[in-house]
Amino acid sequence: MTKIFVLLLSLILAASASVKCYVVEKENIRIFELKKGELSLKVTNWGASIVSLFLPDKNGKLGDVVLGYDSLKDYTNDTTYFGATVGRVANRIGGAQFTLNGIHYKLVANEGNNTLHGGSRGFSDVLWKVERYQKEGPSPRITFSYHSVDGEEGFPGDVTISVSYILSGKNQLVILMKGKALNKPTPLNLANHAYWNLGGQNSGDILNEVVQIFGSQITVVDSKLIPTGKFASVKGTAYDFLKPQIIGSRINQLAETKGYDINYVLDVEKGKKKKLAAIVQDKKSGRVLELYTNAPGLQFYSGNYIKNLKGKGGFVYNAHAGLCLETQAFPDSVNHPNFPSTIVTPEKPYNHYMLFKFSTKTHY
Ligand SMILES: *[C@@H]1O[C@H](CO)[C@@H](O)[C@H](O)[C@H]1NC(C)=O
Ligand SMILES: *[C@@H]1O[C@H](CO)[C@@H](O)[C@H](O)[C@H]1NC(C)=O
Repeated sequence: MTKIFVLLLSLILAASASVKCYVVEKENIRIFELKKGELSLKVTNWGASIVSLFLPDKNGKLGDVVLGYDSLKDYTNDTTYFGATVGRVANRIGGAQFTLNGIHYKLVANEGNNTLHGGSRGFSDVLWKVERYQKEGPSPRITFSYHSVDGEEGFPGDVTISVSYILSGKNQLVILMKGKALNKPTPLNLANHAYWNLGGQNSGDILNEVVQIFGSQITVVDSKLIPTGKFASVKGTAYDFLKPQIIGSRINQLAETKGYDINYVLDVEKGKKKKLAAIVQDKKSGRVLELYTNAPGLQFYSGNYIKNLKGKGGFVYNAHAGLCLETQAFPDSVNHPNFPSTIVTPEKPYNHYMLFKFSTKTHY
């Protein structure tokens, strides 16, 4: 009798402790601001996410160019990954499983039978620790860190990761993502999931923005967006953005995915690690974004599935309200030995660099 009572009591205590822990986490969500010149960036420790980025347009008028919510609480039940850092493995893992060094790992499936952006509670859905924060000065920056434990969402081994947001130069945002496996090899592939709208987050859709993507090939996917392992040239297809193209001009050809949702193999200049991956231009505001990275791939997503979402200032977002330029390794790499490896080990850390250069002179 007493034994059962003690057992029940400890069960109740354990349950309330874990609920309390989650509540306390949600209570500790904060916003941090970085300011330099005319650029101001707001981020939150929930998901190490971008909340807003204010930039001048061609007339010097400031506007917020990323989609998001008014209330921080909305970030804790967001399913659109607004501004978030996604992982442990960004993008999809087919069948929510993989085999590494002869060990089979079963992951949490959160999109049909597949794993998307790390599972049902990925890095976008946890509270990160603030390691360092400097709001102003020559190089404003904030560094978030997170310790992901062995078995989290099914992934092997402990991993520590950090994400830094740094304002540098004139109207430049650098994002640095670093990771280290502490005890076992594991796949690691982080991405920033900001939805950009250079016309302003409340300006409507991005279909008239002009995009250039420096990737001559895509990774071919099946109907569930899982790579088949094959590559295809973009030549002669709606995926060809080697020359600047209006996003909306060929989007109707992609009926199955309701728009762009594809990984580009970024072209590499000989001897250069950091490359220009993409340019986005918005004629109306004059804003231009250039994205440089050391990642092998870029997932271009045209916000196809946004529907009736209440965003900042009560503005309602619908399909194509923003676009994502997720530099990362190729999707489902862990199941395709012909893709660049995403495995990190205690000896081989992870290092992902992104530079967003903003200006206000369109070139077309
Ligand atoms: C989060 O949940 C609240 C309460 O149910 C709801 O009002 C809000 O729209 C949700 N936010 C998102 C982003 O789904
Ligand atoms: C998941 O896989 C099973 C077995 O292959 C299949 O029957 C089912 O339709 C799949 N579910 C989805 C949502 O794709």
